[in-house]
Amino acid sequence: MPNPFKGKHFLTVDTLTKASVSLIFEESKQMEELVKTQGSSDILKGKILAAIFYEPSTRTFTSFITAAQRLGAGIVPMLGVTATSVAKGETIEDTIRTLGCSADIITMRHPLEGSVKQAAKKSYVPIINAGDGTAEHPTQAILDTFTIHNHFDRLSDLTVGLIGDMKNGRTTHSLAKLLAKLGVKRLVFISPKELAMPTKITTAVKKEGAKILETDDLNKVIGDLDVLYDTRVQKERFIDENKYEELKDTYIITPKTMKKAKKKMILMHPLPRVGEITYEVDDDPRAVYIKEQMRNGVYTRMALLKLILE
Ligand code: NCD
Repeated sequence: MPNPFKGKHFLTVDTLTKASVSLIFEESKQMEELVKTQGSSDILKGKILAAIFYEPSTRTFTSFITAAQRLGAGIVPMLGVTATSVAKGETIEDTIRTLGCSADIITMRHPLEGSVKQAAKKSYVPIINAGDGTAEHPTQAILDTFTIHNHFDRLSDLTVGLIGDMKNGRTTHSLAKLLAKLGVKRLVFISPKELAMPTKITTAVKKEGAKILETDDLNKVIGDLDVLYDTRVQKERFIDENKYEELKDTYIITPKTMKKAKKKMILMHPLPRVGEITYEVDDDPRAVYIKEQMRNGVYTRMALLKLILE
């Protein structure tokens, strides 16, 4: 198929199609091969990626930087903005246009929903959304679905459970929408009632023809799941600290929990975890969050950079 990503912003999963996601997956496979056999290449030699993160990040930031470097691109890494003109009151628009004078592509994370889209409107170069508030985290959804796709032949046969903070977790918002688009027919959202999935997301998921079960009881559903995608309760989105304390440990996945799961279920997590999966679970072969899921973050971001910049 012709490359629909070339020269374009990457802001949401809403504009993706089965075919365009397949293209990213094919490229990602090749990137995996490239990293494993050669380590790097010069496909993006002469290009520069600016990464500006107004919010903390470990994996998304480092995997973007790594992805650019493995493809031979230069980098402008800005993890945090306190030492930049943002501290002097510079607007998002001006900061973004400044970066566009140095770099060929920008990846941006910001605490406000819609901020990356706002920046994109003024940007001279393509922008990739690396997370905007509680709204979306589309590149995470790509690496997550790539991981699932590598384990299962037919997504339409799967029952996928998402657990934790459905209300504030941007990874779950992008992932739920993308899974439904890719043909997953059964989604289970497991959360305390206070952290239920927003209607905006459930509506979008149902529009794609998927069925949703919402519950606060993991034990009731764990045996039915092919994928369990865990998330932390998003402390920084709470106004009431006591409420956070009350909800943060609602679900803790232990080896005992894993005994109730299918032998072929995979356990995922975008990370960071703050206690919701105990360390003993890491040794379970079904725990893919430790290496595989994170490595896929590098391969898929390499693929995306290539597709946008080639
Ligand atoms: C997530 C995020 O920033 O939304 N982290 C990530 O990018 N892997 C999840 C989280 O912070 O809980």
